[in-house]
Parts: sequence; C-alpha cells; structure tokens
Amino acid sequence: MVVLSMAFNRKDSFYKQAKREGKRSRAIYKIEEIDQRFRVFKKGQKILELGAAPGGWMEYIAQRIGTSGAVLGLDLLTIADLKSPPCITMVADILADDTGARIDALVSPPFAGVVSDLAPNLTGIKATDQANSITMLESALELGLERLNQGGFFICKVFQGSELKPFQTRLKKLFAKTTLAKPKASRKTSTEIYLVATGYAGKTSPQ
Ligand SMILES: C[S@@+](CC[C@H](N)C(=O)[O-])C[C@H]1O[C@@H](n2cnc3c(N)ncnc32)[C@H](O)[C@@H]1O
Repeated sequence: MVVLSMAFNRKDSFYKQAKREGKRSRAIYKIEEIDQRFRVFKKGQKILELGAAPGGWMEYIAQRIGTSGAVLGLDLLTIADLKSPPCITMVADILADDTGARIDALVSPPFAGVVSDLAPNLTGIKATDQANSITMLESALELGLERLNQGGFFICKVFQGSELKPFQTRLKKLFAKTTLAKPKASRKTSTEIYLVATGYAGKTSPQ
C-alpha cells in the first residue's frame, strides 16, 4: 500500500544493527560517527551528557574514555545498568534551578566535553515546539559553559529552523571551530542536526 511504503520506518538498518549488537539505542551510531570524524573522546576525560536516556551514547563514551574517566549522564528518565566507573547517572530536569549544583556534587568540574542529545517532547504546534527547543538549547549551553574546560568541546542536537543560525553564530564566538554534522544514523526525514564545537575559549569569552 502506498501509505505504508511512505510511512516512517522505525525499524531501519540502524535500528536493526542496534538490536543485533545488543545496544540500547540506535543513537549510539550517531555519536560514534561524530567521534570518528572529530576524534573528541580520549582516555581519562570527564564528560557531561544532557538528555542521556536510555544510555546509548554513554555506553559508547564509556568505552572511549575508559575507567579512569567519568561520564555523567542526566535525564528526566532513569538510566539503568551502566557500569561504574566510568558511568554515573542522575535523574534531573535541565531546566530546574538546582541541576547545576547537583551535577557539581556528583562530578566536580571542569569537564573535557559536554554533549547534548536533548529532545523536547513535541506538541505538534510549530511555534511552541521551536520555543521549547530554544529554551532547552540555551539551558544546555549555560550548564555546559559553566563547567567546560578551556579547550573543551560542546556537541548538541539542534533542530533545523530559525533557531539554528543565531545559535551557531553564538557558538562561533565561543569556540575555535564550529561544524554542522548530519550522521548517517540520523534519519533523513528528521530535521535534527548536530553542532560540533571544539576549542572552547574559556569563561572570559563573550557569552
Ligand atoms: C534522543 S533521547 C537521548 C538518547 C541518548 N543520547 C542515547 O544515546 O540513548 C533525548 C532525551 O532527552 C530527554 N529530555 C527531554 N527533556 C529533558 C529535560 N528537560 N531534562 C532532562 N532530559 C530531558 C528525554 O527524556 C530523552 O531521554
């Protein structure tokens, strides 16, 4: 049927690969591709992940940073059964006032990198969804910059739309290099894209 052939294919090749390889989400292949291109993760690093459930990225990052590092993943949802060290998880809302202090109590900053795969719950109302997405991005950036090491990296999911350009312009002032990446595992039908910013200038730069 035409309708079916045009329908959203949830069980695409990356979904099947994740099932076959026993990964917790297909999202792991996105961060793997980004890392293979930008070589951001290294042994012993401290990494903060925002919007980390069910933990696919954390599994990948843990294997790259090793047990001498730490990856702190926070989400509204519980993330279960990850090996510690290096994984530490926290149930939190990035929009809550006490989240920064709770992060610092678990893993003392600075972090070598902050990654965000945060996705707001969609309402279907374009203006509302876009506003929620901007609020979330701003909070992720604020939480991240306060805890990022000079020279560190910030990787975040952004939805293509009017917010992308101003946000990228802002990152360009704060980081030595900013690149847009659309990993193969990111569905072509999705407007999501990743901003990869490396070489944080440090807290004295204009924010
Ligand atoms: C695409 S998923 C992350 C997938 C993850 N990177 C992985 O590899 O398994 C996006 C996550 O953002 C989380 N999220 C949405 N709003 C949030 C908020 N205000 N605070 C914390 N997490 C939030 C959702 O609960 C969801 O688990």
